[in-house]
Amino acid sequence: MIEKEIMDKYRKAGMIAKKSLLYGKELIRKGASMLDVTNKIEAKIFELGGKPAFPVQISCNEIAAHYCAITDDPLIFNDQLCCLDVGVHVDGYIGDNACSVDLSGKNSDLIRASEEALRAATEVLALGVKISSIGKAIENAITGMGFKPVKNLSGHGLSRYGVHAPPAIPNFDTKSNEVLEEGFIAIEPFATDGSGMIHEKGKASVCEMIGKKSVRTGFVRDIQKEIDSFNGLPFCTRWLLRKYSYAQVNFAMMQFRQLGILREYPPLVERGNGLVSQAENSFYIGKEIIQITNPYL
Ligand code: CO
Repeated sequence: MIEKEIMDKYRKAGMIAKKSLLYGKELIRKGASMLDVTNKIEAKIFELGGKPAFPVQISCNEIAAHYCAITDDPLIFNDQLCCLDVGVHVDGYIGDNACSVDLSGKNSDLIRASEEALRAATEVLALGVKISSIGKAIENAITGMGFKPVKNLSGHGLSRYGVHAPPAIPNFDTKSNEVLEEGFIAIEPFATDGSGMIHEKGKASVCEMIGKKSVRTGFVRDIQKEIDSFNGLPFCTRWLLRKYSYAQVNFAMMQFRQLGILREYPPLVERGNGLVSQAENSFYIGKEIIQITNPYL
């Protein structure tokens, strides 16, 4: 059983994640800037009483995930297909949700494929079901509409300050016999008209601190302390550049890299350069299933 106090924090995080996602969905319009929209969504999260569980990510066209605006990001929305991924935490308890926005007007089927897959997966959810049956529902919904699920991206468990906790929730039928246990998970189908596989490509703007080592330089220590305040959750240099100069942040990041305590996540790009859509919700799996985020209702 999950304590009421903890469940309430998950629900609050989920509610803020939903509101911030829907707010951001409206901001993604032709002529709007990636940087401005990203900053506004992150500000909304704080305004509503939450904190970002990771930097807001808006991944366009063949980029499926992990595109996070940089400080001087030049991107202006035009006719992209955008995957907007917003995660919020309240005292470490996370609500994670995502949706797709098509500015071209040509990709509504592709968006519907990931949304239908999420709906089909939601119907399968129950304590003790095979996790592969969730993947199967996702795969069937997406292939049934003539697209492919992205096989090497998956949903995930959620733990306190843990956005990539086990178990992985696959987007295809892995045939595994592993079953769903009590806990919190995020399901995130990705649909594509490309190859169905992504790879890392380009410069990382999402990072995570994966260890603690002492550093000598004063401002590097200050930056380390700032990053410590994220409690191991992903962050981006855009956040650090509000307080520190480029030279300081670059130097600090180089040090963390050399010390082996920095993990960087480059954009995840469709291998066949296909377009990618995404839909995501978070759930509590127990005797009853509780939807933590619900932007699709
Ligand atoms: Co997620």
